[in-house]
Formats: sequence, C-alpha cells, structure tokens
Amino acid sequence: MEPSKRNYDIVLFGATGFVGSLTAQYLATHAPDDCRWAIAGRNRTKLERLRERLAELNPSCATLPLVTADSTDPASLRTLAESARVVATTVGPYVWYGEGLVEACAEAGTDYLDLTGEPEFVDTMYVRHDARARERGARLVHACGFDSAPHDLGVLFTVQQLPTGVPLRIDGFVRTNATFSGGTLASALTALGRGAQTARAAKERRLHEPRLVGRRARAPLGAPHFSKETGTWALPMPTIDPQVIARSAAADERYGPDFRYRHFAAVKHLPVAIGGVAAVSAVAAVTQLPPAREWLMSRYEAGNGPDEARRRRSWFTVRFVGEGGGRRVFTEVSGGDPGYDETAKILAEAALSLAFDKLPEIAGQLTPATAMGPALTERLRAAGMRFRVADTR
Ligand SMILES: NC(=O)c1ccc[n+]([C@@H]2O[C@H](COP(=O)([O-])OP(=O)(O)OC[C@H]3O[C@@H](n4cnc5c(N)ncnc54)[C@H](OP(=O)(O)O)[C@@H]3O)[C@@H](O)[C@H]2O)c1
Repeated sequence: MEPSKRNYDIVLFGATGFVGSLTAQYLATHAPDDCRWAIAGRNRTKLERLRERLAELNPSCATLPLVTADSTDPASLRTLAESARVVATTVGPYVWYGEGLVEACAEAGTDYLDLTGEPEFVDTMYVRHDARARERGARLVHACGFDSAPHDLGVLFTVQQLPTGVPLRIDGFVRTNATFSGGTLASALTALGRGAQTARAAKERRLHEPRLVGRRARAPLGAPHFSKETGTWALPMPTIDPQVIARSAAADERYGPDFRYRHFAAVKHLPVAIGGVAAVSAVAAVTQLPPAREWLMSRYEAGNGPDEARRRRSWFTVRFVGEGGGRRVFTEVSGGDPGYDETAKILAEAALSLAFDKLPEIAGQLTPATAMGPALTERLRAAGMRFRVADTR
C-alpha cells in the first residue's frame, strides 16, 4: 500500500522499554491531535499497561491502537512496516534485534528511525538495505537520539555560521553529568565486545559506498590535549557521532571542499580525565571476555534506567569550535538529561518531522542532518534544546 494510505502516521516499536515509554509519553503530550499514531511491542499486556499510563497524561490515548510484533518474527515486522508511514524503534541492541525491521521498512518504502550507537549495525544495514530503500523511497535514519542528533545538527548549525566554499575545521567538546540504563549498557558492552565484526563491517561498507569525488569529508581521531578554547581536558571520543557527521558532510556541499571534524569528551580536572580513560580501557578489555561481559550486563536490568529525579538533575553541553576562511566561531548545543529525556524527545520529534515536515526528497540510509537538518533543529529548539552562537571572531 502507498505510504500515504497507511493506517498510522507513526508507530513506536519497543514502546514498553525504558526509552520507549519516555518516547510514548512525549508523543502522548506533544503529537498534534490529528497525528495517527500507535504503540508496538512484543507483549500485549505490557502495551495495555503503558496505554493506561498514557491515558492519565492525555485521555485521548485511552483508545491508542496497539500493535503486537516481535523482532524474531519477520511476518509481524512486515505487517508493522506496512501499517505505518514512519516507524521509530527502540528495540536494541540493534545488532541482535534490529535488521528485520530495517529490511521490512526498506521493502515497504516506510521511513525508519532508531537509537543505535552501534557502527557495525549501521554499516551492515548500509551494505544490505540502502539500495532497496532508495528504490522504494524509504528514509532509513539511524542514531536519532543523543547519539548522534545534537552533535550532527550542532555541526550543521556551526557550518552555517562559517563561509562557504572553503576548508572547514570543527572540533566538538561534550560534557554531561548523566548516567545510563540497562538497555544502553547492553548495547555498549555488545559493541565493545565486537571489535573485529565492527572493523569487518566498516571495510565491507567502504567496498560498496561510492567514493567522494573532488571533496574531502573526514572525522579522524584527535589526540588528548588541554583545550584553551573550552578550558577543559579534551579526550578523543570514538563513538558513532564523528562517523555520522562525516557522512552528513559528504552528502552536502555546504560543508566545503575539505571538511574535518574531531570529537572529544571535555573534562575539567586532569585526575578525572586520567580516571575516565583508565575506566573505559578497563571495561573495553574486560568485554573481550564473554563471561565477564555477561556478568557486567547482568548488573543492569533491561527496562530500567535513571529515575525522574536523577534525570531532572542531568544535563549536557556540546561546544563546537569552527574555523574556515579566516573566521572562527564558537557555538553550543545544550539541554537536559541526554540519554533518556532528550533522546526520547529527539526520537519523537524526528518521527513527527519525517511524518509532517517538508524535507529534501531523498531516500536510502541517511543521517539526521541529511534527512531532516534545519527542520529537526527548529523542532528541538521549540522543544527546549538550545542551539546558540557563543562568539564569532
Ligand atoms: N542513541 C542514544 O543516544 C541512545 C540513548 C538511550 C538508549 N539508546 C539505545 O536504545 C535502546 C533501548 O534502550 P532502553 O534503555 O530503552 O532498553 P530497554 O529498556 O531494555 O528496552 C528494550 C525494548 O526492546 C524490546 N524488545 C527486546 N527484545 C524484543 C523482541 N525480540 N521483539 C520486540 N521487542 C523486543 C523490549 O520489550 P519488552 O518491554 O517486552 O521487554 C523493550 O521494549 C538500546 O539499544 C540503547 O542502547 C540509545
């Protein structure tokens, strides 16, 4: 069926999980009245309980449609994809549970959003499903939470403050006081334990992806250093964010003929920086041993995460320093609890953006900035996330 004739504008899959419930709450309180949306998951009783909670926030949710689907049941994923114009999924780790839905959405021409921070998954989905998604007109947008939307959109915002047609250099410095959920821990430990598979998937992608001709768009790992611009220690952050940003730059000439982005964690005090590096290295080493990885995972329960009081105290800032054509600009993106409240807001606003905004007519695997750029930035601004120019020289 043509996407315009589908039953729902948006279906939220994984709605009963930790971030899924927050995203459902956001949609219940922010989706326009005429938005036809539904919650989906593998357990109908849990969906019914969630619907009761949503009805307390918005009485019209008492009749919200429920869709039952399971990642291990391809027929249910096909039905899900064919019922909606946009599907947003929080069912991770995506490398375990994600591919069936990407495939179903590519085939049905349905727009797809997820929260993955797993480069292996994104590269594998590119190789296997990008071409079909292009043919069918489906937009497949991964990493549409704190990983990687504020960074990706923040860099686009910074590029827009700099001259056109010149080489651009941008560094991003991330600070937060937030903590994480069981689902995030499971995904992070899974990704850390799959270094060889991640490298293989990246190589396979390079073999398939057309090379950029006449321009450069890079995101090399920076070196640890003290940043005078931010007054913090800067530690290179090899998350999925720089990869996403390099892809946005490759897709858009506005990023100039030679674009370079480096991504750092910003830490105020040297002992904390050294402790952070030691802790991450220790966890990365431990996750190479499957029994140790299982033990670490068992410490955090799926479906659980920081409570509302903890989330209310959480914040993030990403400072960007951009240079090009003799101009220097300092910008900042900031907001509340990054991993959950802001992630739920980003996923929900991105789903509304794909469903209702006038966006570039492109398809296939896309980044948040390429698919929705300024429209999503404006939505997030209206929803309280700050994008600002701090200084220009
Ligand atoms: N991009 C970002 O910045 C960001 C931020 C936060 C989280 N995340 C990612 O988002 C994902 C979700 O995190 P979370 O904390 O919400 O995890 P969670 O609470 O464990 O939720 C996982 C969801 O997946 C569902 N699920 C599991 N197996 C399934 C299957 N076979 N079929 C259908 N549904 C299935 C669960 O259903 P039940 O309720 O029935 O168990 C639950 O709804 C993780 O991958 C995490 O890494 C990303």
